[in-house]
Amino acid sequence: MTVRIAPSILASDFARLGEETRAVSEAGADYVHVDVMDGHFVPNITIGPDVVRAIRPYTDKVLDVHLMISPVDPFIEAFAEAGADIITVHPEAGAHVHRTIQLVRGCGKKVGVSINPGTPVSVLEDLLHEVDLVLVMSVNPGFGGQKFIPNATRKIAQLREMIDATGKAIDLQVDGGINFETAPKAIGAGADVLVAGTATFKGGPHSYADNIRRLRGEV
Ligand code: DX5
Ligand code: ZN
Repeated sequence: MTVRIAPSILASDFARLGEETRAVSEAGADYVHVDVMDGHFVPNITIGPDVVRAIRPYTDKVLDVHLMISPVDPFIEAFAEAGADIITVHPEAGAHVHRTIQLVRGCGKKVGVSINPGTPVSVLEDLLHEVDLVLVMSVNPGFGGQKFIPNATRKIAQLREMIDATGKAIDLQVDGGINFETAPKAIGAGADVLVAGTATFKGGPHSYADNIRRLRGEV
């Protein structure tokens, strides 16, 4: 299984967002992860569709947009038009997650569903065949730099089995507190896409390329 790395630009220098997006893309990122927060669904405010549009020309990697906003449906089209390739939503962010999934599909984009630490994987039972990506939150959403919640590995393992049983190529992404110590645990449990903000952008004296390689387990 090839492990893909999705640096979260939340941990980058926002004053140089375009350059940072380009830098991680050239450093070997597979996806560029964009954390969208509204101060309502989560206790923090980050960026909107205009910023996604602004960074789009700085990368040819998969633009992986993680929406932590409620309501979410009214904004799907704007993020799709801004250049998102994957749009990931939370089932708690709207009354009808199945409708939200259809909205994303209707925009011609890939769709992900995110599972919060307090949400059981069973919410995906009737949705799994509809999605391209499942995102396991290994922190409560809202901030970068938090500590990995160990129970996430159990959920990743459960989802690995559920995904394999579908026979479909569905990404199993993990997000929050991924560093050089927790990455192998997430990979061992079956994750194949690692979101990493702090570890990529602030992972010590190494270059972004080194950090990405280390997260992948290549060095
Ligand atoms: C949290 C976000 C994460 C976060 C990851 O709500 O979804 O993507 O920025 O940051 P690190 O890698 O620093 O935990
Ligand atoms: Zn995220």
